[in-house]
Amino acid sequence: MIVGFVGAGSMAAAMARGLAGQADSMLFTDSGSGRAAELARELGGEALASNAALAQRADVVVLAVKPAKLDKVAEELSEAKVVVSLLGATSLEALKSAFPDKEVLRVMPNIAVEVRKGVLCLASDVPSISHPYGGTIHGTSVREMLATLGHVVELPDSQFDAATAVMGCAPAYLALAVEALADAGAADGLDPELARELVVETTAGTAELLRIRHPADVRKAVASPGGSTEAGLEALDRGRARGAFEAAVRASLERMRG
Ligand SMILES: NC(=O)c1ccc[n+]([C@@H]2O[C@H](COP(=O)([O-])OP(=O)(O)OC[C@H]3O[C@@H](n4cnc5c(N)ncnc54)[C@H](OP(=O)(O)O)[C@@H]3O)[C@@H](O)[C@H]2O)c1
Repeated sequence: MIVGFVGAGSMAAAMARGLAGQADSMLFTDSGSGRAAELARELGGEALASNAALAQRADVVVLAVKPAKLDKVAEELSEAKVVVSLLGATSLEALKSAFPDKEVLRVMPNIAVEVRKGVLCLASDVPSISHPYGGTIHGTSVREMLATLGHVVELPDSQFDAATAVMGCAPAYLALAVEALADAGAADGLDPELARELVVETTAGTAELLRIRHPADVRKAVASPGGSTEAGLEALDRGRARGAFEAAVRASLERMRG
């Protein structure tokens, strides 16, 4: 499949890195920064001079520009065969009105698609062929492509903002927690690289464990009464850590909803 990325920023780069070696080829455009050419060099694709040329050649067009660019870019994509939008806070209805005669899928990926461990929320009325009432070849091939990048969850469009606030933004919040823990370890004398390694591997292992055990259960298993983890959790409570995460999710939602 030839995948064409309109936009060559953070999310296009993450998705393209995840697709490297899987897509037959990748095409990129930007608005003049040169990031499309950089990605093409890094991943072996091609930077094109116009969105129209990209639409002509790509089997699937991935929209990876800021939401405000939707209408302008849509005018240039009249020859696109199928459009996958990554645009935040842009409903399926808005996408369908920007591309009235096309198959459009709304996808919200997170940055971990870069290592094929992403979460990708999908809303679309373009079913895959295996759907009980039938579907389209594009509906099938796009789902297959997304599945190579991580865990795909089909969701009603109305739930996208809430989902984005916890899966799209969360890699940044979790990265902050990792950074803070590693910095605290380094402040206590660990080599900074070693501190980061310890926390990163702990995070990866805890994520695996959380697939089979409830978070409260993991907390309880680590924090034996009167022990050091219990003291740490009490300190986090005093610092209102839970309230801070809730506030982060609310703030993201407020900004998404304008
Ligand atoms: N970052 C994330 O974790 C994340 C997660 C999920 C969804 N998203 C969504 O993904 C989209 C892109 O986000 P981002 O973080 O990747 O933004 P970004 O880093 O600012 O990248 C935007 C890209 O769009 C390009 N662009 C602007 N106008 C264009 C045009 N007319 N034709 C072609 N390219 C054009 C920019 O070109 P230049 O390089 O020339 O400036 C840039 O490469 C947003 O809608 C966002 O909501 C992002």
